[in-house]
Amino acid sequence: MAETTETVVDAGKGIRFKRNTSDVIPVIDFSVMLSSDPEVRKTIAPILRQACTEVGFFYLKNHGIPNAVIRRAHEAMQRYFALPREEKLKLHYMSNPNHRGYVSSGDINADHELKGKDMHEAFEAAQDLPADDPDYLKGIKFYGPNSWPETPPDFRWALGTYFDTQLEFGKIMLRAFALALHLPENYFDPIYTKPMSRMRACYYAPQDPDWDVSRIGIGAHRDYELFTTVWQSPQPGLQVKGTKGDWIEVSPIEDTFVINLGNLMQRWSNDLFLSRPHRVVNLTQEHRYSLVQFFGVNYDASLDAFPSCVSEQNPARYPPISCGKNTEDQVAQTYYKK
Ligand code: OGA
Ligand code: NI
Repeated sequence: MAETTETVVDAGKGIRFKRNTSDVIPVIDFSVMLSSDPEVRKTIAPILRQACTEVGFFYLKNHGIPNAVIRRAHEAMQRYFALPREEKLKLHYMSNPNHRGYVSSGDINADHELKGKDMHEAFEAAQDLPADDPDYLKGIKFYGPNSWPETPPDFRWALGTYFDTQLEFGKIMLRAFALALHLPENYFDPIYTKPMSRMRACYYAPQDPDWDVSRIGIGAHRDYELFTTVWQSPQPGLQVKGTKGDWIEVSPIEDTFVINLGNLMQRWSNDLFLSRPHRVVNLTQEHRYSLVQFFGVNYDASLDAFPSCVSEQNPARYPPISCGKNTEDQVAQTYYKK
């Protein structure tokens, strides 16, 4: 798989490790993780470890999420984004106390270096918990109630079901990551009891063929959490930054998700696993939709590095950070900086 060798160096301490990096995005078969035999489940470890250290992106097939759940979410979001702008603006995320609701075209710039604004629209949701949830009352915005539109009438049900199904899937996916990190398979289970997760249902209108990076679906960025699942409608547009600085298409493959790693995974793996920059450019002249879900662990779970990623020769490079603080800091930079 290797195309380029990168040397990871610590200032003053010398070479930490050499890694091969690759722009070939592998397709990983998840069916082994659904086996009741631990020996079968373990077979995913070397494949997933290689994808995470060399690429940071992979497709997942046989993920176990029913097609009907995805199809209904896709249909409901198509109806939602077709609503008049004024209707969608009624639930604008800036008028919501806990960062949920509608993000309109031009609201954010995921690439903080750019002056332009991202063209895509999104609807954002997170763990849908009651307003008297004790953690929400403490001020944790990522817990607490969602802000659902009344139209289309099935939106809440379809998107809520998608979110919850993904949240359950995330638990199994984290077991696979634990195996890939050479941790006990259940390492994440005790810190995935009230996990932080955010969902963005995204709509990308066709872009002008003579676009430039200041008018882009979503500008180049790295995700914030442990990992992200992306379901894409058949229109291509997602791109990952290649090892030579070029942009590599991550075109949709039917019945798969794209999974990419986020900054917290890179940090907690002591830079072993990669969080790669990516962006979306929709040049298809068709509407493009995606369902993007970000996965963390419990808000308070705090770590400098996974125990399997540190040694005497390779001590933790970063101070401890909690999952909640990490997401809050990074979300604030993208969404509230004016
Ligand atoms: C994101 C993202 C990709 C997509 O929302 O962070 O990278 O295909 N989205 O919508
Ligand atoms: Ni992203």
